Amino acid sequence: MTPSAALPVGSIPLVGLGTWRLRGAEATSVVATALELGYRHIDTATMYGNEADIGRALAGAGSSVFLTTKLPAERASDARRTLEASLAALGVSAVDLWLAHWPPPDIVAVWSTMRTLRDEGLARAIGVSNYSVAQVDALVTATGEVPAVNQVSWNPRSADFDLLAHHRGLGVVLEGYSPLEGGAAADPVIVRIADAHRRTPEQVVLRWHLEHDIVVIPKSAHRDRLAANLALFDFELTPGEVAQIDALSR
Ligand SMILES: NC(=O)c1ccc[n+]([C@@H]2O[C@H](COP(=O)([O-])OP(=O)(O)OC[C@H]3O[C@@H](n4cnc5c(N)ncnc54)[C@H](OP(=O)(O)O)[C@@H]3O)[C@@H](O)[C@H]2O)c1
Repeated sequence: MTPSAALPVGSIPLVGLGTWRLRGAEATSVVATALELGYRHIDTATMYGNEADIGRALAGAGSSVFLTTKLPAERASDARRTLEASLAALGVSAVDLWLAHWPPPDIVAVWSTMRTLRDEGLARAIGVSNYSVAQVDALVTATGEVPAVNQVSWNPRSADFDLLAHHRGLGVVLEGYSPLEGGAAADPVIVRIADAHRRTPEQVVLRWHLEHDIVVIPKSAHRDRLAANLALFDFELTPGEVAQIDALSR
C-alpha cells in the first residue's frame, strides 16, 4: 500500500471555519467567536494575510485546534521561510496540515520540500489543494506517497464524483471549499429538503458534504451563521435526499 502523508483517521474535525476574506480585527473576533461556539478546526493560508489575526484569537483558546495553512505556488521556492512565517504568525510550533495551495510548476520538487519540513516536525501532515486527479496520480507515482488531503471547490452544483471515488480509493481525504457558493441553497430541491427537516437550506448543503464524508470549511462573519454551520450533527439526510442533491451536479 502507498504510504499516506500522515493524517490519522478521525484526527480532522469534519467541520472547520473558512477564513478567506476575513482580515484584521474582524478575523480575530470571528475566530474567537467560532472557538467559543465549539469550532476546533480553522482553515487559513499565507495568501489570506490573516494568520497573525488568527494567532491572536488562538492565543486565548486553550484547548487544541486543528490548524491548516497553505503554501502559495509562487512561494514554492521559498517554502521553508514561508512556513516559518506562518508558524510565527499563528503562534504555534507546527500546523496540523500544510497544503500546496495551487499546483506549482514542479509539483514533485515542492512535495519533496514539504515532506522535509513535515519530517522536521513543522507540519503534522501535508497535502494539496486544487489538484486534479491526474496531478494527484502524477504526485503519487513520482513520490510513492499519497497526499493526506486534497482541498477542492465542492458544492451541490459543482461536485465531481469521479474525483471523490478516485480519492477515496487512494485514501486522500477530500475537503470541500466554498460549500455555499454556486447558489444551491436557493434550489427548490434543497429548500424542500430543508423544510422537511426544519433546517436552513445552508445546513442541508453542509450536511450533504458530511453524508459523503467530505470535510467542509464554511466561512461566515456572523455569529448566528457560525453556530448554524456547526449544528449539523443532530440530523441526517436520507439516502434518497442525498441522491436528489447529487443529481444537481450530475
Ligand atoms: N484552497 C482554495 O483554493 C480555497 C479557495 C476558496 C476558499 N477556500 C477556503 O474555503 C473557505 C470557505 O469558502 P468561501 O469562503 O469561498 O465560501 P463559503 O464558505 O461557501 O461562504 C460563502 C458565503 O456564504 C455566507 N454564509 C456562510 N454561512 C451562511 C449561512 N449559514 N447562511 C447564509 N449564508 C451564509 C458567507 O457570508 P457571511 O460571512 O456574510 O455570513 C460567505 O461569504 C474559505 O473561507 C477558505 O478558508 C479555499
